[in-house]
Amino acid sequence: MRHLMSPLDLSVEELYGLLSLANDIEHNPGKYAHACEGKKLATCFYEPSTRTRLSFESAMLNLGGSVLGFSSADSSSAAKGESVSDTIRVISCYADICAIRHPKEGAALVASLKSSIPVINAGDGGHQHPTQTLTDLLTIYSLKGGFSNLTIGLCGDLKFGRTVHSLIHALIRYPNVRFVLISPEELRIPDYIREDVLQKNEIPFTELERLEDAMPELDILYMTRVQKERFFNEEDYVRMKDFYILTKDKLSMAREDMLILHPLPRVNEISVEVDDDPRAVYFKQAQYGVYVRMALILTLLKWRDGLC
Ligand code: CP
Repeated sequence: MRHLMSPLDLSVEELYGLLSLANDIEHNPGKYAHACEGKKLATCFYEPSTRTRLSFESAMLNLGGSVLGFSSADSSSAAKGESVSDTIRVISCYADICAIRHPKEGAALVASLKSSIPVINAGDGGHQHPTQTLTDLLTIYSLKGGFSNLTIGLCGDLKFGRTVHSLIHALIRYPNVRFVLISPEELRIPDYIREDVLQKNEIPFTELERLEDAMPELDILYMTRVQKERFFNEEDYVRMKDFYILTKDKLSMAREDMLILHPLPRVNEISVEVDDDPRAVYFKQAQYGVYVRMALILTLLKWRDGLC
């Protein structure tokens, strides 16, 4: 049985198969409308979510399956002190597959070790968010045709932004990918990503503070919000939160074919005036999240028992 904890749990070939399946689902949804009839997805969310939880639920419903779960720790027996390990053993009796989001790094991995159903990490603290990465990859794959030879600007909270960490892990496997890491000094990419992932694999990257300096060379601009919930004090968050605001003026320096991605939710970092620009694909990206989660549910259930 396979789980998904990190994008690297999928080989390049498996990832290609998943993206191709997502592409087929997008264009032939009727073919998959009954693929998971009789199957249940549990969404166990100990942290707030709009896109991840609801796109997982939408994905399972689109496949003809059912959904159950909880949307906050307070509405589950975690509030009474139940451990993640015990909870997943119980959920394994009720559902065929589980997506779990938890504020603690490694919580999904702990769950997977005690689970008898496939577990999907739907975000663990500031660590990884692999299904957002699959969403980002499907967006790039569908709109750019592949991942090679791209210069990708990652902008904002690179320290706590788990989507950024997962995306870097995933993209370094493709030829001639280059990163421009754009952040204030205090929110720079963690050392373990800079040293153990980028430098160790000899991936070209530069670190900048000014978005304007990077803009003209980018194929993809991946904006992120400052992660309020991971700050230790409000004062630091308030000082950092509006460090980057992408406006039409700044966008005028970008290439005509550059894509703007954002995992969402957006706070202030992209001005709403940018939304109508054809390069702004972040709402389309949220739609791709449904197709890729459908493909993931199908694939993990198929690997488990071949029933879907
Ligand atoms: N992108 C993302 O993870 O959004 P949610 O927090 O709304 O799930």
